[in-house]
Amino acid sequence: MDIDKVFQDQLIKITQEAAISVYPHLGKNNKNIADEAATNSMRNNLNKMNIKGNIVIGEGEMDEAPMLFIGEKVGTNKGPELDIAVDPLEGTNFAAKNLPGAISVIAMSNKNDLFSAPESYMEKISYPKGIDHNAIDLDFSLKKNLSNLADAKNKKLENLRICVLDRPRHKKIIDEAKSLNIDVKLISDGDVSGALLVTDEKYNVDLFLGTGGGPEGVLAASALDTYGCGFQGRFIFDTDELKKRANEMGIYDFDKKYKLDEIVKGDSLFCATGITQGDLMNGLEMKNNKMVVKTLITHKSQNMKKIVTGEIDIKK
Ligand code: FBP
Repeated sequence: MDIDKVFQDQLIKITQEAAISVYPHLGKNNKNIADEAATNSMRNNLNKMNIKGNIVIGEGEMDEAPMLFIGEKVGTNKGPELDIAVDPLEGTNFAAKNLPGAISVIAMSNKNDLFSAPESYMEKISYPKGIDHNAIDLDFSLKKNLSNLADAKNKKLENLRICVLDRPRHKKIIDEAKSLNIDVKLISDGDVSGALLVTDEKYNVDLFLGTGGGPEGVLAASALDTYGCGFQGRFIFDTDELKKRANEMGIYDFDKKYKLDEIVKGDSLFCATGITQGDLMNGLEMKNNKMVVKTLITHKSQNMKKIVTGEIDIKK
């Protein structure tokens, strides 16, 4: 079943307002307060929606996060049953330091269509549309993935460019890329945006890969699905507690590589609003007491993928 188009505007408003709530905290070196502002705003607005919403990807577990935890019910309890994934402030460091790349993100699907997992790391890989899904795999070497990509895109291997989170754990990938003469775009945080750089040639990224947050993986997968791009993810449940929690959520195979259509099924809506300037969209800009906001929205059943500009009156 298609998700009702009325939710497009409602979700845009939700990430716009969450983004604006972070504005006073930009550059104040307090990522927790900035995150809390975005989470409060998102929660308040979700609770106004006429939906029976279930947070499947959220801000941690019930006992550790007071808001928007996994399993939290949101909405007025009237209307359709929907699964919701949230990252009210993606790039908390960026916001705290007023650096480029902070966004506010949400994704929505019909009930049971978004993958629900405990908050853990995930190995992930995303690639452009038009590539055979058997050609790219988390277990292939970088060289094999890139050779397959080069063949499919009719490009020379050395002209490909990859995007990786700048972390010591990615040294092997970065070293291998260097030895292959491959250009690497290193990002210091924000791998929802990083994973989405394969959606358009203009970003000049052919492959995103590496280990980052699982929630960020599920959120990115939702937008990638609408773009027709590819994604594969493998959660890392490396503690007894995570394994127990995963079992409780119905996950028993801890080594499973999930394909995009196992993470996001059916229709989905995705919204990301820019807080600080980013690769995907501009950040918040104050003009004559109005906040100019840019939101990327994707809606799979409508084949919609566009950036919407809003001008919001800011009351003093
Ligand atoms: P936060 O906004 O929660 O700080 O996450 C930022 C982020 O860079 C994510 O985009 C990424 O998935 C994750 O952190 C990587 O985690 P780590 O910083 O532990 O390597």
